[in-house]
Amino acid sequence: MGRELLKEKNIVITGASGGIGAEIAKLCAARGANLVLLARSLDKLQQLQSDLQQKYHVSVDVFQLDVSDTNQVKEVFKQIFDTIGQIDILVNNAGFGIFREAHKATMDEIKGMFDVNVVGLMACTNMVLPKMRERRSGHIINIASQAGKIATPKSSVYSATKHAVLGYTNALRMELADYNVLVTAVNPGPIATNFFDIADEQGTYVKNVQRYMLQPEYVASKVVDSMLTKTREINLPRWMNMGSVVYVLFPRLFERLGKRVFNSK
Ligand SMILES: NC(=O)c1ccc[n+]([C@@H]2O[C@H](COP(=O)([O-])OP(=O)(O)OC[C@H]3O[C@@H](n4cnc5c(N)ncnc54)[C@H](OP(=O)(O)O)[C@@H]3O)[C@@H](O)[C@H]2O)c1
Repeated sequence: MGRELLKEKNIVITGASGGIGAEIAKLCAARGANLVLLARSLDKLQQLQSDLQQKYHVSVDVFQLDVSDTNQVKEVFKQIFDTIGQIDILVNNAGFGIFREAHKATMDEIKGMFDVNVVGLMACTNMVLPKMRERRSGHIINIASQAGKIATPKSSVYSATKHAVLGYTNALRMELADYNVLVTAVNPGPIATNFFDIADEQGTYVKNVQRYMLQPEYVASKVVDSMLTKTREINLPRWMNMGSVVYVLFPRLFERLGKRVFNSK
């Protein structure tokens, strides 16, 4: 769909050194977009940069960035604007989770998840907002999660960060509607990435949800297909999203009947 739409567009992706961020980068490059890839692992970004430049002959810039460091975010985005002039699409993808019961979560873990998943995402968004509003064009894509719709045991903190991302994204979409700036939330269920190396140290959750796992290439293809279209939300897989619709209508019943499934972490 609209394969020419992304040609020569400038797309910035946070958390592009692996997982769905790297897959989004590959698909954008295949559609002729110019890329700016951000993450802490510069070596991985440089490897991806060289692969994409060789294969697709597109422009790829990389910058080391820890999105939880607000000063670094400011400096890096200044460098990005100096290098490429204009950002057409920002994909706020950097994020991580730690599955632990609330009483066992340390303050460092709690602040760490909020600093990256929420404050980092807002900091990057703030860097592109003034110019997108002024130009009256652009697209901000926030990778949230199904955990932003249904909170389950052992994901209290992670779910709280993703609920925050969804709230922020919904308000942002309304604020920007008159400025022609598009805003999309992406809410995937479990995806087979390295995310679980940190989130699920014991491997219990991965074992329990193995058969539902989405492939990162598939999630990335849905994200890339939505670029520069008026897609409000992407919810994957569809059946899991039906669950969150039913949850809103019958929360007490849903929590009782879903107890076994919700306790799969
Ligand atoms: N996997 C899932 O089941 C799943 C489901 C729903 C939503 N999500 C969301 O999807 C997004 C991508 O996750 P993924 O599954 O692709 O996980 P992943 O394979 O672990 O990739 C996470 C990416 O985020 C980057 N990152 C982490 N902390 C960062 C920081 N402080 N500053 C900058 N970059 C940082 C990592 O790069 P560096 O380590 O190099 O910095 C990496 O590129 C996350 O927001 C996650 O919450 C994942």
